[in-house]
Amino acid sequence: MAESLSKPVQELLLSNHELPERYIYKGEDGANIGGGAAFPLLEVPLVDLGLLSSPSVAREEEHRKLRSGLSSCGCFQAINHGLKDEFLDEMREVAKNFFALPLEEKQKYSRTVDDMEGYGNDSVLSDHQTLDWTDRLYLVVSPEEQRKLQLWPENFRGILHEYTAKLAEMNELLLKAMAKSLELDEHSFLHQYGEGALMIARFNFYPPCPWPDRILGIKPHADGTLLTFLLQDKEVEGLQVLKDGHWYGVPIIPHALLVNAGDQLEIMSNGMFKSPVHRVVTNSERERNTLAVFCLPEREKEIGPVEELIDEKRPSTYKTVKNYVDIYFQNYQHGKRPLDAAKI
Ligand code: OGA
Ligand code: NI
Repeated sequence: MAESLSKPVQELLLSNHELPERYIYKGEDGANIGGGAAFPLLEVPLVDLGLLSSPSVAREEEHRKLRSGLSSCGCFQAINHGLKDEFLDEMREVAKNFFALPLEEKQKYSRTVDDMEGYGNDSVLSDHQTLDWTDRLYLVVSPEEQRKLQLWPENFRGILHEYTAKLAEMNELLLKAMAKSLELDEHSFLHQYGEGALMIARFNFYPPCPWPDRILGIKPHADGTLLTFLLQDKEVEGLQVLKDGHWYGVPIIPHALLVNAGDQLEIMSNGMFKSPVHRVVTNSERERNTLAVFCLPEREKEIGPVEELIDEKRPSTYKTVKNYVDIYFQNYQHGKRPLDAAKI
């Protein structure tokens, strides 16, 4: 494979002024990837996390919104989550500054060919893969003993630790609330999550793209997670969700966290909650920075539909699976929806 293909997009852009073949999107929705076209905005419910732990009737209303968001569009905007505005802005600033460093500086954190962790462009899993217009810094955060701190820029260490520790608390609160919203025991999802659960931070950087009508920031996919927490760029939109066969833009709420269900939550909830297919469109004028934190059950743990959600009217639609992340990448590589492999 030619050397230039594995360059960060940021570098490719400096040396190449022609539409790069490996990045041209050829999917079915290819005729409709934007290029400045306006997409309708998705109606995403706001869920007040403060109310989720209150003993009031207001809590019931938040449960209802949580359930409705996850079962219709597969996501919601978490507000009143306890993270200060300034703290989120600082997290964004640290990420943005990293990608603005000279290449030699960033390359100190480069991933190796056979590893996803570290700094680099879209992982090339197959020769036929269309590449995403994005550079990333990908870091395993939990279990803590698996951190490769040599890949963490020094100024990330304190803040990323603090940010993800808060997300871990939020994740637990949400898993309990989601179970309660379905009238289940509050540990129904949590106990499948396990003690050695995995948390991965992915800093996504989307450089401006001169061909926004031909190239995507991230191809359509659903996350292989239980839950994903996304800190969106404060100003530049780009994320879109597929709902009833149409693409909708996800609105920016600067200090909210966008939470979406992943495939493993769809499996555990026996399809009550949807893992939404989503993509990122590019922008010819402005760069975009986001931070996705992926929460995944312990690798070796078997996960499957919660028993109380299976009955005659609603038979089990998903198998019990183990190592879903491996299933995910095997299928993703072949352009298949990984979740189909877990369907009965
Ligand atoms: C992802 C993702 C969306 C975004 O990293 O899986 O979907 O807006 N990111 O960066
Ligand atoms: Ni995603």
